[in-house]
Amino acid sequence: MNIIRKIYCRVFQEVFHMAIPFLPYRKPAILDSVMALPGLFKDKDIKSVLLVTDKSIRGFGITKGLEDALRDNGINVAVYDSTVANPTTDNVEEARKLYIAAGCQAIIGFGGGSSIDAAKAVGARIAYPKKPLAKMEGILKVLRRIPLLIAVPTTAGTGSETTLASVIVDSRTRHKYPINSFPLIPRYAVLDPETTRTLPPSITATTGLDALTHAVEAFIGRSTTKETRSDAIEAVKLIFANIEKAYKDGNDMVARRSMLRAAFLAGSAFTKSYVGYVHAVAHSLGGKYNTPHGLANAVLLPYVLDYYGKSAWKKLAALAEAVGISGRSDEDKAKVFISEIRRIEGNLRIPATLPEVREEDIDELSAYADKEANPLYPVPRLMGKEELRVFYRMVMAKEKNHTATA
Ligand SMILES: [Fe+2]
Repeated sequence: MNIIRKIYCRVFQEVFHMAIPFLPYRKPAILDSVMALPGLFKDKDIKSVLLVTDKSIRGFGITKGLEDALRDNGINVAVYDSTVANPTTDNVEEARKLYIAAGCQAIIGFGGGSSIDAAKAVGARIAYPKKPLAKMEGILKVLRRIPLLIAVPTTAGTGSETTLASVIVDSRTRHKYPINSFPLIPRYAVLDPETTRTLPPSITATTGLDALTHAVEAFIGRSTTKETRSDAIEAVKLIFANIEKAYKDGNDMVARRSMLRAAFLAGSAFTKSYVGYVHAVAHSLGGKYNTPHGLANAVLLPYVLDYYGKSAWKKLAALAEAVGISGRSDEDKAKVFISEIRRIEGNLRIPATLPEVREEDIDELSAYADKEANPLYPVPRLMGKEELRVFYRMVMAKEKNHTATA
């Protein structure tokens, strides 16, 4: 990246950094169990709610306890369970019609990031009945208060339960776009490990590593605050201590609760302090090859951290110390921290490569990642599209493997 663009990026990022204290960020209140919701609605005199979820979550019976408890308490629940991965404008419009027909007064987004994002977008459309979602794309387009929104994450990963973002796909054009607005931050997040009990181990691993990537990228970036640094450190500690336990034993509710807490903290950190090139490259792979988001992040994370080199050593050393790694220098500690990530990923059966990446696509992919990350992401070391190509080639190499240890 040339020097003029570098200066532009850093000035742009510093303006956003300085603006943080003046923006209406807030954290959702945390509830420990979905069974707290009927009482909450009664207190607020809410008699009808919309539940936005997907077919597999409902099919597994994960929402049943809540649905029954709401009805037992005289609260009507309208269920929209057709949300798809990468939720669409059609999903949002169908759910909105249900909300209106059932006279709902609150929305519950119950599921992975897709159901929570869809629920946020339904809230935005209720607040703006005449404004299509396409007109809400980008930053700060939703200013009105939305109906009471509660997020119940069933994966410990995306952090959508605490962020201001909703990512929606236009059903006609397939254009995928973010809606980033403060009123979309849920009022409550229910961190109930029972909702993650049936998660397959591979999803526990990849979504947990997505959360680790949020925490690490937010922490090593340049736009941190005291609060985001402390949230990110706490998240990294919790993930290092619990991800392998949650992977090996789906019924370890202490580990699962800790992972939900970690994902929430990591989400709170990155919604203010942003992510970095791991996410930008991962999103380009998701768009082109449908590579699952958590998997792409997991594979890329050690490569990108290595490549940042000296620019990230000091902060990675602080994360290393937080998880009990000692060493003679920041460089030593940072390198051990990265090798620990590789070791954990090996134990979680994360591959070291993504064979779907094709050489002929790399120019297009790196341009996409460059456009997403620059100038917005306050990464430790700036890279333009030429330099970003290196990461696609790293994950293409077939001979590498993470080292798994017991
Ligand atoms: Fe992510």
